[in-house]
Amino acid sequence: GAAVEVDISALKPGEKITVEWRGKPVWIMKRTPEMLASLKKVTPELTDPNSERNNVPTPEYAKNEWRSRKEDIFVAIGICTHLGCSPSDKFTPGPQPSLPDNWQGGFLCPCHGSTFDLAGRAFKNKPAPDNLEIPPYMYLSDTRLLIG
Ligand code: FES
Repeated sequence: GAAVEVDISALKPGEKITVEWRGKPVWIMKRTPEMLASLKKVTPELTDPNSERNNVPTPEYAKNEWRSRKEDIFVAIGICTHLGCSPSDKFTPGPQPSLPDNWQGGFLCPCHGSTFDLAGRAFKNKPAPDNLEIPPYMYLSDTRLLIG
């Protein structure tokens, strides 16, 4: 399939855009320092915090605590690993209906309630068995990404 080139120069901290690659939604999000710090706070609640499972393998370059090549820029396929719905943005931290008590911001799947943190890592005791998939991607420059 054709690779997709994306200009991320206008992406502001806290913003997420979606591009299409091979018919799938690919999220590109610029995380704030607070969002990055939140990742450490939820580790015990995650099903595969270090992305070690191989059912949906995480590329080597994203096997780190941010699940990304660059700390702030998160790139993931926006499709739930349960049955394929697209999770919604729930970036506001704090207690909210349908979300874990210690919510730090992330994504909620509207179909059966799976939740993911801001690195796409799945929470325990929800239907989604695996973290969100990280697509192949590379940087052509500081502001141009190549997906695929
Ligand atoms: Fe996402 Fe079932 S498809 S929870």
